[in-house]
Amino acid sequence: MIKIFFSNIVFIVFLISCNENITNSVNIDNKLIKPEDFPEVIFPVYNQYSKAKAFLGQKLFTEKLLSKDNSISCASCHKPEHAFADNTPISKMIGNNVTVRNVPTLVNIAYAKVFNWDGSGKNLEEMIYKDLMLPSVFDNDTNIIVERLNQIPYYQELFKEAFGNTQIEAYKVAYALSIYVRTLISGNSRYDRFRRGDYKALNESEIRGMNLFFSDRTNCSKCHSGLLFTDYQFHNTGTSTHYFDFGRFYVTNSNYDRGKFKTPTLRNIELTSPYKHNGEQITLEEVIDNYNMGGRPFINKDTLIKELNLNNSEKQDLINFLKSLTDENFKK
Ligand code: HEC
Ligand code: HEC
Repeated sequence: MIKIFFSNIVFIVFLISCNENITNSVNIDNKLIKPEDFPEVIFPVYNQYSKAKAFLGQKLFTEKLLSKDNSISCASCHKPEHAFADNTPISKMIGNNVTVRNVPTLVNIAYAKVFNWDGSGKNLEEMIYKDLMLPSVFDNDTNIIVERLNQIPYYQELFKEAFGNTQIEAYKVAYALSIYVRTLISGNSRYDRFRRGDYKALNESEIRGMNLFFSDRTNCSKCHSGLLFTDYQFHNTGTSTHYFDFGRFYVTNSNYDRGKFKTPTLRNIELTSPYKHNGEQITLEEVIDNYNMGGRPFINKDTLIKELNLNNSEKQDLINFLKSLTDENFKK
């Protein structure tokens, strides 16, 4: 009895102290909506979800003033109409520079444990904060960003709603963006309708493709596993014979990891061409042909990658299944 009483006091004190700093995050009704059969999204204790933060994050996502020369926003590379990926192999950065890697989709990023093709990003808030300054992203000074935002009453209002009556600070830009990208949850494709019991949602070819995808013959689902279509592990799939980008090696320094990359999700794959870490495969046909031949020879190629002997109609079935993973909510 005494124990319960005590913990209640602690809880009330906690609520009051949170209320002073962060207005919305203690509102228990302020919950992220996601497909029911998807896992809960865990937000860090220091950056809990609120609608106001998500709204501010959405505005900042397309805000070009975050970049040094006001030329690009997050959405310049993570294009909403391409399921938050880009439609070029490599993307334009500030000046005349281009990215080294293909822009990954941000859908379901809320569930990722590590970020980037090589897993070099470990904390979303911290990574996005660094993006503001990184020459390869916004190349800006955080003081300049705050100064620019402070001149716009609209932003002053949105920051107040999201973080309470405090000053605009650069870390809050990163926090709001981190909340927003975690709301990009995709789980309403035709394939999802099918697995939830609407058996008319897929046609016969797509069902044949689905069976191939989940079979021991292709091994696709051994790496592109679960509801999110990724094991979040690092593999080499024999995309190329030569890797100019060593991938996971940069993080672990182990030769065993040379040419390994994080398994990408396949949700909305139809919208995120071109493919692979360097965007070298333009069409799904090319991707499937590469898998069908067992990948190109490479020392660290995964043993799950082998010659598949799929005939043309089987290849087409597999592609049709991949296209059933498109979520209409992300097709803008
Ligand atoms: C110039 C293009 C560009 C801009 C602008 C950009 N990104 Fe990215 N983003 C990339 C590339 C390329 C990668 C992959 C980097 C890697 O693997 O090393 C990436 C990776 C990410 C990831 C990790 C995705 C994953 O699958 O692990 C997140 C999250 C992300 N970006 C969010 C953002 C946010 C938020 C902004 C705006 C602050 C932003 N990006 C601006 C190109 C860009
Ligand atoms: C050994 C694990 C593994 C297996 C098995 C596997 N994949 Fe992959 N898949 C990956 C990895 C890792 C990448 C990224 C490779 C790269 O960038 O070089 C990838 C990339 C892809 C891409 C491009 C995604 C993008 O966003 O660029 C598609 C499409 C794809 N795989 C489909 C399949 C299909 C279909 C099968 C079965 C025929 C399959 N995969 C089997 C691990 C695997």
